[in-house]
Amino acid sequence: MMASHRGSLPIKQSFRNRTEANAEKEPYDRDSMRLEHLPKVAKLRLEGIQICRGVAALLVLLFHVTQLSQEKLGQAFLANLFTFGSAGVDFFFVLSGFIIFFVHQTDIGRRDRLKPFILKRLIRVYPLYWLVTLAILPIYFLAPQFGYGYERQLDVILKSLWLLPQAHLPILIVGWSLSHEVLFYFIFALAILFPLKLFSRLLSGWLVGTLAIFLLNVAGAFDPEQHFLLWFIFSPHNLEFMLGCLAAYVVLQKQLKASNTFLLLLGTACFITFDIAQTERSSPFNPIVIYGISSALIVIGAATLEVQRSRPFVRLFSFLGDASYSIYLTHYPCLSALLKLTIAAQLISIIGYSATISLLLLTTLSVGCLTYVWLEKPLVYRLRGTLVNQLATATKASDPVAATATKVLFLDQSGALGGAELCLLDLVQPYRDRSLVCLFADGAFKTALQQQGVAVKVVATKSIAVRKESGLIQGLQSLGQLLPIAVTVARLSRDYDIIYANTQKALVVGALASLLSRRPLVYHLHDILSADHFSRTNRRLAVTLANRCASRVIATSNATRDAFIQAGGHAELVTVVYNGFEPAAYQLDVTLGQVNLNQRQQLGLDGKFAIGHFSRLSPWKGQHILIEALVHCPKDVTAVLVGDALFGEQEYVQALKTQVATLGLQDRVQFLGFRSDVVPIMQACEVIAHTSTAPEPFGRVIVEAMLCGRPIIAAAAGGAVELVEPGVTGWLTPPGDAQALAAAIAHCRADPAHTQAIVQTAQTQATDRFALSHIRQQIDHLLQAVVKAEG
Ligand code: UDP
Ligand code: GLC
Repeated sequence: MMASHRGSLPIKQSFRNRTEANAEKEPYDRDSMRLEHLPKVAKLRLEGIQICRGVAALLVLLFHVTQLSQEKLGQAFLANLFTFGSAGVDFFFVLSGFIIFFVHQTDIGRRDRLKPFILKRLIRVYPLYWLVTLAILPIYFLAPQFGYGYERQLDVILKSLWLLPQAHLPILIVGWSLSHEVLFYFIFALAILFPLKLFSRLLSGWLVGTLAIFLLNVAGAFDPEQHFLLWFIFSPHNLEFMLGCLAAYVVLQKQLKASNTFLLLLGTACFITFDIAQTERSSPFNPIVIYGISSALIVIGAATLEVQRSRPFVRLFSFLGDASYSIYLTHYPCLSALLKLTIAAQLISIIGYSATISLLLLTTLSVGCLTYVWLEKPLVYRLRGTLVNQLATATKASDPVAATATKVLFLDQSGALGGAELCLLDLVQPYRDRSLVCLFADGAFKTALQQQGVAVKVVATKSIAVRKESGLIQGLQSLGQLLPIAVTVARLSRDYDIIYANTQKALVVGALASLLSRRPLVYHLHDILSADHFSRTNRRLAVTLANRCASRVIATSNATRDAFIQAGGHAELVTVVYNGFEPAAYQLDVTLGQVNLNQRQQLGLDGKFAIGHFSRLSPWKGQHILIEALVHCPKDVTAVLVGDALFGEQEYVQALKTQVATLGLQDRVQFLGFRSDVVPIMQACEVIAHTSTAPEPFGRVIVEAMLCGRPIIAAAAGGAVELVEPGVTGWLTPPGDAQALAAAIAHCRADPAHTQAIVQTAQTQATDRFALSHIRQQIDHLLQAVVKAEG
């Protein structure tokens, strides 16, 4: 591929009329330098924005085809209709400002978000840019006549690779606009790093500088060529990024539902009118200001517009939006090289101008799209994966609880990964060097613990018979099984400071062991001890053992605590501690369109409105309510059921399948079984539903949906009511009410801007409220207090 800078010189001449016409109004516009566009920075679920990115990419491509056709072939492409395509770059700057603000506004003022923000931006921009730059670099060594002469200088190469501003174009000429992009990221990073007050001052200074230089330039008192660095830092393009941020702010705050189409049309009309005015040399306005404002109007309109994903037009432009960065980086060198080949092969004389130019256009577009599918997508996907792992490790390493000296013997009855086990998996980390987890069954939980470097011992040889609803006789029978386990645990517990029971049967074993070994016992209560969930005998047993033997009961919610007290538990024993979550593990992929797209394709969700349900299959988890709700929803609404019958509830699975068949919903319900990759699947869904028919003790899945940036509709009972503030962080519907669930789904769908605002609030709140580091500290303080008091 040949990216000829020199090749672009005659283009400038052939377009001199237009350039000269603009010269007085935009002397800062370094001719074809401003004809490139920005990278794709993020994929939003707002399809309108995706379409805008696709349109912007096409505009820039069409502009360059127009330009090169005139210069190299001496022919006007489509009567030079797309000379205004150069404004695609202004559109991209505004879109970029919009996307960054929209996605990262909750990071502002939060230092802990700086590292992920910077790493994500670096991964988006640099690797692909480096690959393309390094692919064309050898050409300037082999055939220096294709360049300006500076391409082989080491400092130019390094500055180009790092997108540092230079007095001339970088090696891959499109890099000029990426330098502005990087500057904008830098400014945004300051917003994350500094307190708001300080940042506001810096921002004001920057904007005042930008305006001052802009006005001086318009007045002819500032020469960008002479002060290129100042011109770069205070470039008028900054105003376009700011307009984008403003557009995002408006969308997030104001919910401009009624006016979206009007704004879209107004922006487009301004954009086109200005182009005509400009080419007729009659516009008294500066293009950046006009294109920037028009673009901002279009973006606000597009962001709040409801778009049918299934439409082929939407799908095509959404895809082009995804591929826009690859198209952007490859199109100019590709067009340039193809034109050289075309001329050498005298293709026009064989197939004619129209066929030749169409072929060039389509080939260039295809190269961009294939680069995206084969290179950019897998590359970014892989790098993001590595980043998630690194950040998770770093968080663990910097966790203050990591240094805890408390030696804990954890007990859990389950070998499967239920919510209580996933909670323990997170909590056990800081103690892993000096603790042991005893399980009463083998399974995935054991493997997960071992993978995290936690010592595990399975202390039961066969499964224990007692179930939540078991009565006295069964309970007594199971005691026969639990007793030997308790003896083993008592023996083991002598090497530990504390016994930590994470489930009901673990409480029975832990209480006996605690009596035998005189080690203090802590009971982490993950259940609502009410008649909805437990037999009278089981409730009594749990409460009596906790009252008599536990030094502390950690309840997962107020609902859990209240039920414990109502069942006879001592109020003073209980402390409420919510489940903790590592936000980075849920949020990192939110802006990664590819993950979303991949998953959606794999799950066959294209053109569908997917409702995700993530829970073990169990009658009280209410998957049947979601299936019933589908009947009241439009046909493109589908359910994705993630989870398996963990505790032997196979009849329910069968009942669900029968229900699906009876209602004729085979095409609209998927059973994915248990999945350990919940996050990308959640992100592939439009809405997450929680449908428990009995009060949910806590409901991890609710918080996970919030952290994943997905709207959550939860059943209004138990802990869910504490987690979701209706209309602010999600929706609540009466448990068991399928029609209300369908109505809430319709509401989420009908008002995407409002939904997005709720999602953002939920994500911010959840990040704070359930931060794992904080929850770990709370638990550790409790454990230390128990050891001090009882040890
Ligand atoms: N989950 C999972 N894979 C699945 C289904 C669910 O990892 O296929 C996880 C889910 O993300 C959540 C947990 O299982 O973290 C369920 O916890 P929750 O508190 O929602 O309900 P529980 O099943 O514990 O009552
Ligand atoms: C239990 C509860 C669930 C809770 C989880 C973690 O499995 O059923 O509501 O979220 O424990 O505390």
